[in-house]
Amino acid sequence: MEAINASIDFDKRLAQQDIEGSRAHAAMLAATGIITDKDAEAIREGLLTVLSEIESGNFAFSKSLEDIHMNVEARLKEIVGEPAGRLHTARSRNDQVAVDFRLWVRDQCDAVDGAIDALMKALLGQAEAGADWVMPGFTHLQVAQPVTWGHHMLAYVEMLNRDRSRFADARKRMNESPLGAAALAGTGFPIDRHMTAEALRFDRPTANSLDSTSDRDFALEFLAAASICAMHLSRFAEELVIWSSAQFRFVSMSDQWSTGSSIMPQKKNPDAAELIRAKIGRIFGANVALMTVMKGLPLTYSKDMQEDKEQVFDAADNLMLAIAAMTGMVETMTPMKDNLRAAAASGFSTATDLADWLVRELNLPFRDAHHVTGALVAMAEKKGCDLPDLSLADMQCVHQGITDGVFGVLTVEASVMSRQSYGGTSPVRVREQIARWKEALS
Ligand code: ARG
Repeated sequence: MEAINASIDFDKRLAQQDIEGSRAHAAMLAATGIITDKDAEAIREGLLTVLSEIESGNFAFSKSLEDIHMNVEARLKEIVGEPAGRLHTARSRNDQVAVDFRLWVRDQCDAVDGAIDALMKALLGQAEAGADWVMPGFTHLQVAQPVTWGHHMLAYVEMLNRDRSRFADARKRMNESPLGAAALAGTGFPIDRHMTAEALRFDRPTANSLDSTSDRDFALEFLAAASICAMHLSRFAEELVIWSSAQFRFVSMSDQWSTGSSIMPQKKNPDAAELIRAKIGRIFGANVALMTVMKGLPLTYSKDMQEDKEQVFDAADNLMLAIAAMTGMVETMTPMKDNLRAAAASGFSTATDLADWLVRELNLPFRDAHHVTGALVAMAEKKGCDLPDLSLADMQCVHQGITDGVFGVLTVEASVMSRQSYGGTSPVRVREQIARWKEALS
């Protein structure tokens, strides 16, 4: 029974939150006259001693005491005696664990926010250094159109900013205090839930005691936001794995964030990127696991809910680790400007520019221009050359109206420069976005 029932091995991570919650509760019990000031003072002092014992590693956690709540209370009893027994007046472990865990998840939202901020700044640094460097833009992982390095970096800044706002949004919603919901129905004691809510920096107390003790939405929202964030990181990690390969050579990863092979001396492996790519597995796994635990649970508390913590702890730890490693990699990687440019020019990447030129200069309907361009690409492919290498005479065989003005739009530089629509890849637009982000992140 102890093996399946006890949670102390993992919920000891909630010690600080548990003690903070108990201190707020004891102060409120005294303020409302439910316990004496003297008892509240003894409890307060005692809890501080317990906290320092835990923080200094001098606390003997006991499995037979089941969880962090009972471990703290039992030790408090040893230290202060009788008043310790009054602490649990007008509360239950059901609202206690709900409050502890909310406090913990709320702290994590703040920690993740700070970590994402650092990663966004690292990406912004890369974007600024190569705002106008040309690289291939891909669809279907096939070269599509030339884009700029800065534009690509900023795409991840946008994603991370959405992640950030998801965590902030979840934090706002979870910032209500369940303390005082007691076992499930509230309490007959004249407690002041607004007072404890304020002491614990919640916006307000929760409004329904049944919901308060049975709700784990805050943990699920954290996991959902973490899953999407980890998914974003996995996509960037995948790009870094591809980009650092010998076939691409778009970036050189620093030695600091790569590993060697135990057998192949020439190898430099992007292990950190691969592990970040993999982290989504356990983080989304945690999300699915907790959703599945909560599904179909009748109101209010059921012991099933004790399975919430390990999932959230593991997901939070690994998300923080993944963001930190990604930040380190981004700060230290070197984009290979010449390789990026050469790759951008391959795969007839300016074919759309050619079609657009036919529309603009010869007034062709876009569908016809698309067709003419297709024929020119086929010709270049047959000759084994790129579009700008075709002669004017060759081009005029396909469409008589073509003039040598066309060569002006076939370079990758001209291509990216022309894409000045709002949000487009042109260096002017990219620099504007960089300025906007610098301001927003400062
Ligand atoms: N360890 C428990 C948990 O994590 C604390 C709440 C226990 N409540 C109870 N009624 N047994 O959920």
